Amino acid sequence: MSEHGGSGLRKETTADPAPGPEILVEQLHKSFGDNHVLRGIDLEIRQGEVVCVIGPSGSGKSTLLRCVNLLEQPSGGRVFVGGSELTHPDVDIDAVRRRIGMVFQQFNLFPHLSVTENLALPQRRVLGRDKAAAGRVAAENLERVGLADKAKAFPASLSGGQQQRVAIARALAMGPEVMLFDEPTSALDPELVGDVLAVMRMLADEGMTMMVVTHEMSFAREVADRVVFMDDGVIVEEGPPAEVIGNPRHERTRHFLARVLDPAAAQVEEGMPPVDKRP
Ligand SMILES: Nc1ncnc2c1ncn2[C@@H]1O[C@H](COP(=O)(O)OP(=O)(O)O)[C@@H](O)[C@H]1O
Ligand SMILES: [Mg+2]
Repeated sequence: MSEHGGSGLRKETTADPAPGPEILVEQLHKSFGDNHVLRGIDLEIRQGEVVCVIGPSGSGKSTLLRCVNLLEQPSGGRVFVGGSELTHPDVDIDAVRRRIGMVFQQFNLFPHLSVTENLALPQRRVLGRDKAAAGRVAAENLERVGLADKAKAFPASLSGGQQQRVAIARALAMGPEVMLFDEPTSALDPELVGDVLAVMRMLADEGMTMMVVTHEMSFAREVADRVVFMDDGVIVEEGPPAEVIGNPRHERTRHFLARVLDPAAAQVEEGMPPVDKRP
C-alpha cells in the first residue's frame, strides 16, 4: 500500500458515518455567447476524496472549477458544496465561498505586502479576525507548507514554487472544507514543481477534499482517488487512476494520454485516423 493518498484510511476516520457528497454537480451547462463550453456535467466528490481532472486545453476544465465556486455563473444545472446549493437564487454566496479554497496557476500575491500580511489580509477582511489571531493562523499555515522562515519576506524574493506554496497557505488560512486547484504547477520551472505537489499530497493525506485540474499524470496516478477525463465540455470517462490513466476505455482518452505522457509516441499516432470529437 502506498504511504501517500489512495489508501482508504482517511475515509474510515471520517467523523460523519454517512456524509452526503461534499461537492455535487448536476447537469451543469455553461455557455459563453454561442460557445457551449460545458454540456451537461454530472460529478460527485465525497468528503476527503481527491479528484484529478485531466483533458485537453479548451475542454472546459477551468470553467468547471470556476462554476463550482461561482466565479462563473452556470447557464444551467445545479452545484452543491457541503450540502448547500450554490445555484439557489437565495444563496449567501460569500458564506458558501468561504468553505472553498481556490489555487490558480498564477499566485496573485500582493507584491507590496509581506508573506504574513498576504495571509492575514483576507482573514481580517472576510472572516473579521483581529490582527493577532490572523497572524497566528498565518504562522500555522506557513509552517504547514514549509515556509515558516519566509514570514517576513516579500513575494518578489521568493521562487515561483515558494510563492505558490504561500498562495496555498493563504487559502488554507481561511479554513476551507474543499480546495480547488487549477493547474497549480503549470507556471513553474520543472525543478520547483515537486515542492508544490508535496504540499498537495500532504493535504490529501490529511483528508482534505480536493478537486485538482492538472497535467501532472504521476501526481494523479499516485494521489488521486479518481481521475476524470474531460473533452469538449463533457466527462468522457472517470474512475480510479489505474483505469483511466493506466488502461483507458475511450479512444479520446488514449489519444490525449499519448500526447501528454509521450509526445514522441503522439507523432507516430498522427498517422492514425483523427479522433472524431463532434457528433
Ligand atoms: N470568460 C470567458 N469568456 C468567454 N469564453 C470563455 C471564458 N472562459 C472560458 N471560455 C471559453 O471556454 C472554453 C473552455 O475554456 P476553459 O474552461 O478555460 O478550458 P480548459 O481549462 O480546459 O483549457 C474555451 O473555448 C474558452 O475560450
Ligand atoms: Mg484551464
